[in-house]
Amino acid sequence: MQLAHGAVETPIFMPVGTQGSVKTLHPDELDLLGAQIILGNTYHLWLRPGHELIRDFGGLHGFASWDKPILTDSGGFQVWSLAKLRKITEQGVRFQNHLDGAKMLLTPELSMEIQAGLGSDIAMLFDECPPYPCEKRYAAESLGLTTRWARRCKDWVSENQPRSGDGPQRHFGIVQGSIWAELREQSARELVELDFDGYAIGGVSVGEPEEEMFRAIDHSVPFLPEDKPRYAMGLGTPPQILEMIGRGVDMFDCVMPTRVARHGQAFTLDGPIHIKNLEFERDSGPLCESADPHVARFSRAYIRHLFRAGEILALRLLSFHNLHFLLRLTALAREAIHDGNFLEFKESFTRRYTKA
Ligand code: GUN
Repeated sequence: MQLAHGAVETPIFMPVGTQGSVKTLHPDELDLLGAQIILGNTYHLWLRPGHELIRDFGGLHGFASWDKPILTDSGGFQVWSLAKLRKITEQGVRFQNHLDGAKMLLTPELSMEIQAGLGSDIAMLFDECPPYPCEKRYAAESLGLTTRWARRCKDWVSENQPRSGDGPQRHFGIVQGSIWAELREQSARELVELDFDGYAIGGVSVGEPEEEMFRAIDHSVPFLPEDKPRYAMGLGTPPQILEMIGRGVDMFDCVMPTRVARHGQAFTLDGPIHIKNLEFERDSGPLCESADPHVARFSRAYIRHLFRAGEILALRLLSFHNLHFLLRLTALAREAIHDGNFLEFKESFTRRYTKA
């Protein structure tokens, strides 16, 4: 994928930097990890410090001193999970923000204007993500609104021609439709008709069983163009990511690797471990045999000690490691696809990870 701030190889995992920072890590460390693109959030950066201030510092790239690609989410999903007294109308979403309770209105046009100010390489369209479970009628009406909002986003982009660095900003539509096959197909077809640079599958990992999540992907992917990127939003565990790559998804993001790291959880080839556990008290081995040398030089016993002592280095090492694990996983998936043995790779990784 060629973007304004560089090329991105797919399939790819995108570390999440909600506030313009991937929690606990320096951008040079993200470089060291081989991160090719990171995420930012419209909702958070609009509320604080504001997109106009960020625009005056050279967009999010200049402000956060990150010169590789950035994707920004459009804000509606975060309003839904964080703000109070939300109300959806044709115009947009009214809510009270989670910082000072001020009443605000986010519309498709404003979301695109904020993302233009942030100057991200990829801006997501403003959508509504229905809750799970929801009535089919609600999901159908909601996807109608998402399509009408997509049209308004497109009109704003056509009129304003937002840029990212020296290139055009790219725009991705978001397929909704909850768990219903015909609604997923309708949503995908309507967005493809409007013609965007890529397409995301939204409304997954919102509490549904894993099988439903895979079905939602399978009901969307066949209606999306083969020659444009497909992005599953907010996913997933290491085996889920491989499963979705097998089903035709190219891009992933998730707060989980860095969030669980701050609670002491580390990915290993034999499944996740909790570094707090007594079994690691005298464990002289590395966190994981595939760990990056910057982390592998420390014993599990030492990292456990740091974590129990409340040392910030423990949170940094675990965050660094979990992102390394997922970035390495997607790099190995690219290699396996290239070599024609992706299915064997996926199965052998998953068998060991889940001890199945
Ligand atoms: N992040 C995770 N899921 C979604 C979704 O459905 N829509 C948006 N905009 N962001 C998401």
